Amino acid sequence: MALDVAVLQDKVSQELASIASLEDLKRVRTSVLGRKGLLAQALDQFKSLSPEEKRTVGREINQLKNGTEERLNQLEAGYLEEEKRRRERQSAVDITLPGKKPLTGRVHPITATFREIDRIFSSLGFAVAEGPDIETDYYNFEALNIPKDHPARDMQDTFYVAPGVVLRTHTSPVQIHVMEKQLPPVRVIAPGAVYRNDQDISHTPMFHQVEGLMVDRNVRFSDLKGILTVFVHEMFGADVPVRFRPSYFPFTEPSAEVDIGCVICKGSGCRVCKGTGWLEILGSGMVHPQVFRIVGYDPEEISGFAFGMGVERIAMIRYGIDDIKQFYNNDLRFLSQF
Ligand code: FA5
Ligand code: MG
Repeated sequence: MALDVAVLQDKVSQELASIASLEDLKRVRTSVLGRKGLLAQALDQFKSLSPEEKRTVGREINQLKNGTEERLNQLEAGYLEEEKRRRERQSAVDITLPGKKPLTGRVHPITATFREIDRIFSSLGFAVAEGPDIETDYYNFEALNIPKDHPARDMQDTFYVAPGVVLRTHTSPVQIHVMEKQLPPVRVIAPGAVYRNDQDISHTPMFHQVEGLMVDRNVRFSDLKGILTVFVHEMFGADVPVRFRPSYFPFTEPSAEVDIGCVICKGSGCRVCKGTGWLEILGSGMVHPQVFRIVGYDPEEISGFAFGMGVERIAMIRYGIDDIKQFYNNDLRFLSQF
């Protein structure tokens, strides 16, 4: 059988034309260039040719082989590139999908209340002072005119860290630290955590207070009333009634507790105000002369007032919360309301 290169070329062209995928391409590579492929079969008939024919036909078959290889490689490169693009498209971000909303944090209601107290007293010229949570008996009690065995200690049972060292029961020891460090005039607030052996729906073992202290020449009880009335009106509204009720603290004389008209029942009496129409928000008074002597101030020359408010108490009134433990349960359903 004569070797017709033109027929062979046609067959190869047909094979190439049938390629529509990478799989087709692999099949054609075998059927044309493989060990038993079209070109290999053609070479079997090669032997029977004359030397002259061998030269021409040999060149033609070689050209056909090279051309086919080149074409197959080209096609293969194209298919591989297409496949790569397809994969890229699959793994790419679909910018038309709705985004995932990140979980945003919020300011805790106690922190928000601290900030509001801070804002009001800053506007009245008060600076911020701080003291340690762990105090000596001296700063927490003795320097505040509460000697050992004084009955006032019963109201503020605390956690004893070591003999003579306690978790502070109030922010009042910061008064002592501030006055030991500076001369009058003094006008500071001292925010922070305090600790007591206390637990019910309005008391927790750890809570927060903001202390206030103003000392200068001629500071009078009317100044205390004026400043604290401004505070109440800024914090709870200008129409909220304020009451100064005589009280007792060993480190102030005279002393007063400050009540505001119950924001729940507007004074008619309810469960929250225990039927009185009033809510206690803080303790206050004129700084006791003994406290001034202890820090080396002369009570004949200067005078001052101090106050201490419960931050949780103010937050509970502000937001209408009836159980203090809500602040510390870390329940997002509660916390995300503020
Ligand atoms: C004092 O702690 C005084 N140091 C306040 C003071 C300062 C008086 C300066 C005079 C001059 P008292 O124990 O009443 O006072 O506490 C003040 C406020 O802290 C209370 O009105 C209440 O709102 C809050 N408080 C007291 N105990 C707790 C508690 N266990 N949990 C939450 N809040 C409390
Ligand atoms: Mg009290």
